Amino acid sequence: MKISAFLLLILIGLPNAYAQENLASLGERQSLSLDGNWKIIIDPYENGYYDYRWQENPNGFFKNEKPKNKWDRIEYDFDKADSLTVPGDWNSQRKELFLYEGTIWYKKSFDFHKSEKTRVFLRLGAVNYRTVVYLNGEKLGSHEGGFTPFSFEITQLVREKENFVIVKADNRRCAECVPTLNTDWWNYGGITRSVTVVETPVSFIGEYSIQLQKGSLKSIYGRIHVINSRPRQHVTVNFPELKIHKRYTADSSGSAYFSFQVSVKLWSPENPVLYDVILTSETDTVKDKIGFRTIGTKGSQILLNNNPVFLRGISIHEEAPLRSGRAYSQDDARILLGWAKELGCNFVRLAHYPHNEHMVKEADRLGLMVWSEIPVYWTIKWENELTYDNASRQLSEMIARDKNRASVIFWSVSNETPLSVPRLEFLKGLIRQARSIDSTRLLTAAMERHYIDATTQIIDDPLGEFVDVLGCNEYIGWYDGLPDKADTIQWKTIYQKPLIISEFGGSALYGLHADSLTVWSEEYQESMYKHQIAMLQKIPFLSGMSPWILMDFRSPRRQLPGIQDFRNRKGLLSEHGEKKKAFYVLQKYYEEIRNKQK
Ligand code: GCU
Repeated sequence: MKISAFLLLILIGLPNAYAQENLASLGERQSLSLDGNWKIIIDPYENGYYDYRWQENPNGFFKNEKPKNKWDRIEYDFDKADSLTVPGDWNSQRKELFLYEGTIWYKKSFDFHKSEKTRVFLRLGAVNYRTVVYLNGEKLGSHEGGFTPFSFEITQLVREKENFVIVKADNRRCAECVPTLNTDWWNYGGITRSVTVVETPVSFIGEYSIQLQKGSLKSIYGRIHVINSRPRQHVTVNFPELKIHKRYTADSSGSAYFSFQVSVKLWSPENPVLYDVILTSETDTVKDKIGFRTIGTKGSQILLNNNPVFLRGISIHEEAPLRSGRAYSQDDARILLGWAKELGCNFVRLAHYPHNEHMVKEADRLGLMVWSEIPVYWTIKWENELTYDNASRQLSEMIARDKNRASVIFWSVSNETPLSVPRLEFLKGLIRQARSIDSTRLLTAAMERHYIDATTQIIDDPLGEFVDVLGCNEYIGWYDGLPDKADTIQWKTIYQKPLIISEFGGSALYGLHADSLTVWSEEYQESMYKHQIAMLQKIPFLSGMSPWILMDFRSPRRQLPGIQDFRNRKGLLSEHGEKKKAFYVLQKYYEEIRNKQK
């Protein structure tokens, strides 16, 4: 029995009973930023949450208590405490927190002048992993999952002066979590994306979707959902540049559905056109910049705006370039995606979790198609219902946030998950859910493959039947033989669907030079890319690739001294932005493809 996210919120009796999806517009509004220094208390024993009997303490740190009399014994004090910068993971801000997995309490004070007849929300861009949020000593609610936004209404609680918001962030891993215990990326903890206070009218546009109908180049359709709407209120859809002003009437639930014909300049990597879109209800206005394109498949081809396209991609982790830690800013996005453009990419795989909003908005602007994924990674607890609900919630939160981004063409439901019936049922459920929310994008996953003989790889993962595009990771020349092994390999599939090689690659330490068979050298990685590209070009149903990976990134599973030092070295660039020899091999290949398509 599947429990909806909304029902779950009601069941656990949290005051804010809005499913996060319904509040997606909060991310597009003017707001008060709470970014900057936050006071922190490091709490490995959760002393601020539980009493010595491990019972929830009603007088925990969230009360931010102060001694009133000289005999008052308060054993914590945020205002005398250390501080961390928000947004930002804690691991890269303090040596002693580099490996820390546990709870840290964050406190921020702020004044807020609330206008008449408005509502106020607290929005957190992302907090890894388990979060409980309080305002002025009152619990607002909790959230699980480190990579999607969540908001709470604070209209009744916010005051003019001296508000204090307290966030309990706990990044401990668990087997039932999503992701589960084992990942090849750093478990950065903390408030990793911006925190804002957002004010809206009492009745406001909660969320909206507006895009081209699947396969149509002219028919725009969409939905505007007004929260606290009066029956049959009017909403408008406006494209100032196209002098389009359309008026519609919302139904009793506050939703207005619309469609109309228009001739727009289509969004594409070569021409990433974005239109100003202004949506209004009787009391509210929301502005956005949206591109219009269609994405589909035909046999083993991927069609962008009804034309076949080859996805010249690269995989990227949300790792900050030129400094350590989780990336979060517009500058980070511009540097990372700028390198992808320099490589000659028209596509990026944002692995293995939804990246911050700057990444997808910059991809919109720069003309990079995006593969966006939820962290259903390796050995998830497939038969655990709460694990499923968690994955399902992360999926709907990811789609709610980015459904108006033209750049996002793929929703990926998993990466390298071992075959089993419970796994298939779990992933089929997520695919069904994604299709029910968004029928315009393509569903994919990085699936399993295997040898049917010494030189033939086949993709017959049963999940292949339920996705639109086959994704597949392979490491021929790294985990599987030497680079020239690729010369002998051919690929088969039982599906008439496009294939994306979503990962291939090998490690090299920037500046380490030797012959092409010396592991960890740039020459080995260079040679491996050459053999890979020659092999991949022979696959008739190949429609794209996103080699692993753009830049070296932190990983707790990489401990070779002097080479890895807790970094996965499969980047084409070092963490300092230094280009390895293989960078130029891929750049040249993408140049050739681009010239051939001209
Ligand atoms: C896997 C996995 C990545 C990992 C990579 C590697 O395929 O999907 O997350 O980092 O291989 O081993 O480098």
